[in-house]
Amino acid sequence: MPKTPDYFQGKTIVITGAASGIGRAAALIFAREGANVVCADLNEAGAKETAALVNAKGSQALAIKLDVTKRAQVDDTVKRAIGAFGTVHFLFNSAGAAIRRSKFLEIDDDLVEKTFDLNVKGTLYGMQAVLPHMLENKFGVIVNVGSMAHRRGGPGSSIHYAAAKGAVVTMTMGVAREFASQGIRALSISPGPVRTPFQDAAATSPELAKKFLEDVPMGRFGEAGEIAELVLFMCSDACEFMTADTVYVNGGGGWR
Ligand SMILES: NC(=O)c1ccc[n+]([C@@H]2O[C@H](COP(=O)([O-])OP(=O)(O)OC[C@H]3O[C@@H](n4cnc5c(N)ncnc54)[C@H](O)[C@@H]3O)[C@@H](O)[C@H]2O)c1
Repeated sequence: MPKTPDYFQGKTIVITGAASGIGRAAALIFAREGANVVCADLNEAGAKETAALVNAKGSQALAIKLDVTKRAQVDDTVKRAIGAFGTVHFLFNSAGAAIRRSKFLEIDDDLVEKTFDLNVKGTLYGMQAVLPHMLENKFGVIVNVGSMAHRRGGPGSSIHYAAAKGAVVTMTMGVAREFASQGIRALSISPGPVRTPFQDAAATSPELAKKFLEDVPMGRFGEAGEIAELVLFMCSDACEFMTADTVYVNGGGGWR
């Protein structure tokens, strides 16, 4: 997928949410390409497991316990990544969740705060932590995760989450445009339903799961690797004119 063979060899990516789902799939794909992978997650055991899988592919890994809602921890993660590998070329902010499902009138302050802390502040902190380093190197690619939900508003179950992902998509666009002339690219991916533990939590009822599937023309959930391959492409030198936008990966729809 990169234009140059071995493009990722020896380059370094920091991945948040690396213990599970799309974050772990990305870690394994970057490991396949020979990149060093910093596996950061609140779930320390899971991050270590991902790091071991990266090592098993012959790449170097660093597992870090990280709560992305804590700015100091995010800053420290980036420092440790630079300390271990010298340069951080890529950041993939995959940590995110809907926290819980709720009808709009039942969304309380606690749910709003937790959802925005994790999805919005967690993404903002990562970008602010790594950008000074990337600017110094005049190179860096940041990939964030939005959601189809941001296009559709999440009625009935997840307006809080859809709004937070809307903020992620907008923030990504702003960062991309602010730093576009300084060697930085930033993109987001907006997946439809992907088969990960996130969906296990989301599909709290068989009716909800059925509703998700009926909305996808391909009639199936996406796989984590199908999102993670796009992260690789976005970070590669085959994608150098692309920045700011979100890319929908959704089996053909989910627009109604
Ligand atoms: N799976 C889907 O259908 C789907 C659809 C659209 C968007 N997304 C988004 O994709 C991203 C990845 O989700 P996934 O499906 O791989 O889910 P997942 O639950 O498999 O993985 C999320 C990871 O984030 C970690 N995490 C949660 N809170 C954290 C925190 N405070 N600090 C650090 N790590 C934390 C979890 O421990 C977990 O390992 C999320 O941003 C999610 O909102 C998922």
